[in-house]
Amino acid sequence: MSWLRTHTCGDLTKKDVDQEVILNGWVSSRRDLGGVIFIDLRDRYGITQIVFDESNNDLHSSAEDLRSEYVIGIKGKVLLRDKETINPAMPTGEIEIEVSELNVYSEAETPPFEIKDGIATNEETRLKYRYLDLRRPEIQQNLLLRSKLYHTIRSFYHKLNFAEVETPVLMRSTPEGARDYLVPSRVNAGKFFALPQSPQTYKQLLMVSGMDRYFQIVKCFRDEDLRADRQPEFTQVDVEMTFVDEEQIYKTHEELMAEIWKTHLGKEIKTPFPRMQYKDAIETYGSDKPDTRFGLKIKNLSDLLEDCGFKIFESTVKKGGRVVSISVPGKGDLGRGALDRLTEDVKRETGAAGLIYIKVSDEGHFCSVGKFLTEEKVEEMVKRAGAENGDLVLILAGPNPQVYKQMGILRLMMGRDLELIDQSADNFLWVTDFPLVEWDKEEKRYVSLHHPFTAPKEEDLEKLEKSPEEVNARAYDLVLNGSEIGGGSIRIHNSELQNRMFRLLGIGEEEAREKFGFLLDAFTYGAPPHGGIALGLDRVVMIMAGAGSLRDVIAFPKNQKAQSTMDKSPGEVDEKQLRELHIKLREIN
Ligand code: AMO
Repeated sequence: MSWLRTHTCGDLTKKDVDQEVILNGWVSSRRDLGGVIFIDLRDRYGITQIVFDESNNDLHSSAEDLRSEYVIGIKGKVLLRDKETINPAMPTGEIEIEVSELNVYSEAETPPFEIKDGIATNEETRLKYRYLDLRRPEIQQNLLLRSKLYHTIRSFYHKLNFAEVETPVLMRSTPEGARDYLVPSRVNAGKFFALPQSPQTYKQLLMVSGMDRYFQIVKCFRDEDLRADRQPEFTQVDVEMTFVDEEQIYKTHEELMAEIWKTHLGKEIKTPFPRMQYKDAIETYGSDKPDTRFGLKIKNLSDLLEDCGFKIFESTVKKGGRVVSISVPGKGDLGRGALDRLTEDVKRETGAAGLIYIKVSDEGHFCSVGKFLTEEKVEEMVKRAGAENGDLVLILAGPNPQVYKQMGILRLMMGRDLELIDQSADNFLWVTDFPLVEWDKEEKRYVSLHHPFTAPKEEDLEKLEKSPEEVNARAYDLVLNGSEIGGGSIRIHNSELQNRMFRLLGIGEEEAREKFGFLLDAFTYGAPPHGGIALGLDRVVMIMAGAGSLRDVIAFPKNQKAQSTMDKSPGEVDEKQLRELHIKLREIN
């Protein structure tokens, strides 16, 4: 039977000396010093040292049998530790418990890895035994931080009159740009639900219903290629508001971030957040989620190189491409070997065809394609790149905008390798003025940069059919330290414009009716202007916790192959289940 504890393993300090207490917990470590056995007893709240003295023979010999991860209860008295054994690093480090009774609740096999922080065990093993991994304080702290965030977020929105509304998990597919997870319907043969990529359509319908302000902490599901910052199932803080503009959404979410940072990191963050137009983000940082914690800004050299005599530059510019550079401080002394290696890395990581460089020196620059260029031209390029004596100018040539994105990757590589990133900074940034659509070469049609419900800028409306690529969207992303932590937009709220949008995206009238008839209909019954945002909660927690992967802030994450090796999902199902779902498996080549 479990003893009711009087305290947790993180509670007791000097002020509790001489108290009789009961503690429960896991054996974290055991040291047998001949006559005396010391055990570190661990629970979620901390570690307390307990002591078995040889004066009580039976008790002492029971303690000899205790092993790591046994679950025990003890009764005993709080004692002050000897001066030389005080551990100032632990909140309970000044005391220990002299045990008078022991209750072994559960024995334990030797765990496959040590239950402590900073272990080098491979992640697959940790994920297979996730319940043990979750005993490790550093992972527990991440979950606890996450738990506290739910609380702060909920009370923040409630104070502002937002209502938390749950939306269905079994729904019709919403186009957010990834593949759907599908769920076959038993009662409707041959039909499928999709798991929400986001509750986008529902939250808009809630605005039509007059809910006015909605939020939800909600699971979303996307079948896409996984990376350290992507999980197939992840959590959004999803928000929608009626009668708003961009400014109100920015302000509300700057306040939310400031409150979270203050409450949980004890840090004041500066508001309002800076803003950057999409075009500038691409042309200066090579990314729509720029990491502004370091410089290495991209410069466009194209106009200098139209007739420079070097074929690659000339033809790139003539074809409408760009020649772009970054200047890396103090690296003008890199040797040939290092530069060859860098060139190979750049080709592999960015897909660029090659890397051109200039080592800048007041004794004469060295340019890797210098034999095709005049000295004056190289000097002009160095000037434009903003390079100084001793710097290394790195240059890529290629189609626009791809070459900017390649340079963006190279910029991040250099920033990381040369440790130019200020790790203590929290650089929040709104990226604004996204194009509404972009041309998808493979699908040969326009696709939304955000999603098809995003409103075009009013002043661009007339260009919607004639030159859609020039139309900007009323969309915005929230970026933190180079990571996209949120995205949203002001929406279309009339069915005529929504239909024009579907047409632009190559979604025919019939298909639009079939898939989104409910939304188009809803807009005909009095739809208020509305807009919203969704924050990627896992990413926010990951950055706050300084974790390297989303997997470290999600209790039971999937691995890189979208599997859970612990419960072996996805798994096979039996024939009977398939038959009930009207499904027959067959091989497809
Ligand atoms: P979006 O697709 O930009 O917008 O998603 C919002 C935020 O969710 C996070 N996110 C992810 N996090 C972890 N794993 C993933 N696979 C993943 N995908 C996205 C990102 C992202 O910024 N319905 C719109 C929001 C709106 O318009 O209001 C939406 O879902 O941090």
